[in-house]
Amino acid sequence: MANSTGGSTGRANRPLDRSSHWSVAAGAQQGGRQSTAVTGIDVLFEPFTLNDQITMRNRIALSPCTRNRAENELEPTAGAVAYYASRADAGLLVTEATLINENCQGYIDTPGIWSEAQVKAWAWVTDAVHDRGGQIFSQIWHVGRLSHPHFTGVRPIGPSKVPTRGKRRQVGVLNLYHVWPRAMSETDIRQVLDDYRRAARNAKAAGFDGVEIHGANGYLPDQFLRQCTNKRTDAYGGSPQNRARFALEAVDAVASVFGPERVGLRLSPAAYFGLMTYEPGDNDGYIHLMEQLNSAGLAYLHVGIVDDFVEYDYLDGRTSAFMRRHYDGVLMGNGGYDAATAAAEISRGGIDLISFGRPFIANADLVKRLRHGEPLRPYSRAVLDELR
Ligand SMILES: Cc1cc2nc3c(=O)[nH]c(=O)nc-3n(C[C@H](O)[C@H](O)[C@H](O)COP(=O)(O)O)c2cc1C
Repeated sequence: MANSTGGSTGRANRPLDRSSHWSVAAGAQQGGRQSTAVTGIDVLFEPFTLNDQITMRNRIALSPCTRNRAENELEPTAGAVAYYASRADAGLLVTEATLINENCQGYIDTPGIWSEAQVKAWAWVTDAVHDRGGQIFSQIWHVGRLSHPHFTGVRPIGPSKVPTRGKRRQVGVLNLYHVWPRAMSETDIRQVLDDYRRAARNAKAAGFDGVEIHGANGYLPDQFLRQCTNKRTDAYGGSPQNRARFALEAVDAVASVFGPERVGLRLSPAAYFGLMTYEPGDNDGYIHLMEQLNSAGLAYLHVGIVDDFVEYDYLDGRTSAFMRRHYDGVLMGNGGYDAATAAAEISRGGIDLISFGRPFIANADLVKRLRHGEPLRPYSRAVLDELR
């Protein structure tokens, strides 16, 4: 998340103008990286049909961005209603990461979607977005070993009892010591999968158009996929098939509620965040997962990367290119793009959709500004602090 001390652990080679953390101003807003073909941004504003249930009015999505503003029992606020409603002209909004149960919180004031009060509060958000003709998915989230008893009162759980690297972590303004996770039992796994299913049911009840599983950035599905955090010897560890099992079962759980057409999944095979390290062979878990998803009929896969222009030797290039090679369905690109680079990437077939994070936080009217070539307000910490 924005305020963690994770930084980048990706062993990139041939980095291109790399911004190592998203707390720095994004090149996109500063007119940083420009594509050579600056013409043709019109492709961004074309409607895009995801499947027979969802058509986006343009190819632009709001990338999920944690706002740390939840109140009361971790409910979204009136500020959240205004935040999402004012961005509803995107083809799709994806909410800030939203907790699936009371035991998986790792950051301050992040909203949940397990209680009735939370569902009611989210319904204000979805209503406001729908009133403006928009569509919105809930990004559902379990942070696994990165949760903290400061918030939950219980020890974190993860695939294995592997400590989080580093002595301390920063959570908002708090300095907390990492807590060793407990290895999940099979009962824990079944419970968490039930919680994903309940989160999807609640999202449906709150009026969301679908859900995106947060499988990126070092959170629980990522922890199962990676060998550095998954030392299990049961059906959820070891082989690529076993490491991908949890993510596939989470997809099945939420697809049983919404249908696969209304489910997205975010993945970050570059291991660039969340205190992850890449180990040779990790790719095989991602490749197996994506190959299985080729026939699952999901709404989309979403690239999770802070800068998609970084090339990783172990991915044989860029993150989006790695995902494109193994996934046949709709790919939502993300990470350090501006209108020109996004349009160029879509036009050459590298991605189908683009999500913007920092540019959209700083510019509620991003779609309009991009369409008319108006200058963008730069993203900064101060902009984030203004959010309500
Ligand atoms: C303040 C902030 C909060 C973020 N929170 C989330 C989150 O909740 N879920 C997620 O998947 N990514 C999160 N991200 C990552 C963004 O979705 C996006 O991947 C990243 O900002 C790179 O895209 P951009 O260059 O368009 O900003 C966050 C980024 C920022 C700046």
